[in-house]
Amino acid sequence: VNLVKVGNEKDFGKVAAYIVSSLVQTSPRCVLGLATGGTPVGLYKELIEIYNQGVITFEKVKTYNLDEYVGLPSDHPASYRTFMNQHLFNHIDILPENTHVPNGQADDLDQECKRYDEMLSEAVIDLQVLGIGHNGHIGFNEPDDQLTPGTHVVELLPQTREANARYFNSIDEVPQRAITMGVGTIMKARQILLMVRGADKAEIIHRALTGPITTLCPASLLQLHPNVTVLMDAEAGRLFQ
Ligand code: F6R
Repeated sequence: VNLVKVGNEKDFGKVAAYIVSSLVQTSPRCVLGLATGGTPVGLYKELIEIYNQGVITFEKVKTYNLDEYVGLPSDHPASYRTFMNQHLFNHIDILPENTHVPNGQADDLDQECKRYDEMLSEAVIDLQVLGIGHNGHIGFNEPDDQLTPGTHVVELLPQTREANARYFNSIDEVPQRAITMGVGTIMKARQILLMVRGADKAEIIHRALTGPITTLCPASLLQLHPNVTVLMDAEAGRLFQ
């Protein structure tokens, strides 16, 4: 695992955008795995800036997002589809049909998981962007006695719903379930960029990278991946020398 610590917020987004944009520039047909949440917002902002400078094009890029809430209309302000459109897709030349987010409104959720996996099996993810939950989740793969390799429906833990309540009017509005890519798919990505920001993530990232590899901390599986870069701000990286 390659650890990169950056001093401030601006550099955090810039370094991440440098990693992603280098790949897009050298491999214009690359497949990106994308995350939502607070952590990658700066990355997307900087990517738009680089795009606006005319350095890269997303015309042939394909994207697959990690997860989506079950039951929210796709145009709901807190849906991950809305997040991606607002923070990235609406501002670059990516083709809408090349952007993929699980459909949390599908009538048959199992069928939707299968459909997502079938698409993913035809397209290996070149670079997967990840954040980490306070409990060590990646995507919405929550700590458990066992983990699921492929795309599946998960019951969100109370802690995760609390952490995400900031995007809703109240915690009661946070969906109970989500569709997430599985850890098998994440681990098959050629390269992983794990972004970690803030003092409240210092302990979990330290445990994930230096503690035992266990399904009780899904991010600890990343210790087994051959090409992981962990980008941390000073606060999140406080427990690393
Ligand atoms: C988001 C996702 C989650 C988040 C994690 C951290 O698509 O899959 O694993 O990356 O919950 O969220 P933030 O960045 O909001 O702290």
